[in-house]
Amino acid sequence: MNYDFETRVNRKNTGAAKWEQMYGWNPDVSDDVIPLSVADMEFKNPPEVMEGLKAYLDEAVLGYTIPYASFLDAVVEWQEKRHGWQVEKDWLVHTPGVVTAIYSVIRSLTKPGDGVIVFRPVYYPFGQAISDNKREEVNVPLLNDNGYYTIDFEAFEQAAAEPENKLLIFCSPHNPVGRVWTEEELEKLAEICVKHGLYVVSDEVWYDLIMPGYEHTVLATVNEELSKRLITCTAPSKTFNLAGLATSNIFIQDEGLRETFVQSLQEVRNDMIGALGYKGCELAYTKSEAWLDELLVVLDRNQRLVHEFFKKEYPKIKAPKIEGTYVQWLDFRELGMTDEELEEFLHMEAEFFTDEGYIFGKEGSGYERINIALPTDALEEALERLVAALKKREAR
Ligand SMILES: Cc1ncc(COP(=O)(O)O)c(C=O)c1O
Repeated sequence: MNYDFETRVNRKNTGAAKWEQMYGWNPDVSDDVIPLSVADMEFKNPPEVMEGLKAYLDEAVLGYTIPYASFLDAVVEWQEKRHGWQVEKDWLVHTPGVVTAIYSVIRSLTKPGDGVIVFRPVYYPFGQAISDNKREEVNVPLLNDNGYYTIDFEAFEQAAAEPENKLLIFCSPHNPVGRVWTEEELEKLAEICVKHGLYVVSDEVWYDLIMPGYEHTVLATVNEELSKRLITCTAPSKTFNLAGLATSNIFIQDEGLRETFVQSLQEVRNDMIGALGYKGCELAYTKSEAWLDELLVVLDRNQRLVHEFFKKEYPKIKAPKIEGTYVQWLDFRELGMTDEELEEFLHMEAEFFTDEGYIFGKEGSGYERINIALPTDALEEALERLVAALKKREAR
């Protein structure tokens, strides 16, 4: 390994959302505990990005900044290089976050009362964006076959055929269940959307984080017809741990759709990002590919560790292998605890800080989502701490 994925970073009192949340839950938590909730990584940022930003700051004037040629080239080339996706610079719109973009898509393509389809359990801001904008959530739950999740195409087609349902918010790869949708699944999904005139926002923010043996297919590449109704959300935020730079790249091929989207961003003045965001993204995409390749090795090692650990040490908790993302969905249902009991136990006794499964939908009740992007030995310690607390509890 040429990069450091082993040093533990202490983010206490730095405003790190995940750490602040942990101290909110349990102010007396032991000093060596690292939270496993919010999806950013407990790794230092790629050195090329940090050194590059320092050099940039020596020269830059931090005034109003708009997308510039070398940034745009970097974004366009990344799609071709990592995803075999040929995009045009003109398709790009920049937002200070993927969730911001989703809010605008909802406002621009639907009216209050319209139905918006989601596949739960799913990243909880999708539902929030729908209810905040006074649209109706139409949940087509994923099918769960012993921990392997698939889309319920029959139920989806029924929902898509309802004229009041206008938009699908799709998560690919899927947070929290870690599926990387196959080309076949995506083709089927695209076909249904085209047939019933559904708009789609495809949130592909996790698209660079794919485990060995799997391949992410960009939804936009599977069906040309769908491109007229498709918004694809990408960002360097998950890939390079740059969420704090609030920089997302949204691709919309259809000119009319793009104009409608931009208009909706402008209405709430959400169409600007900062100079450091552009530069950080450019540096990551042009200089940090080798860092990403090493990160993927570490993430795969960590996900195999979690899978094997529970199988061996505590098989009542199920941890199916993930195909992508760095979040792992854990099935605690066999423990027979209510969500409240589980939460209290994890926070106060096990010092094991997760995202509770029920926040992703009622289908997540009895589950927990953990973040596996941290040094392997720290992850192992956290798992051991959990199992020790579970055994202590059982012995009472
Ligand atoms: C599916 C998904 N979309 C979007 C985001 C975050 O988007 P942003 O921080 O760019 O708003 C996350 C973060 O975990 C996510 O999992």
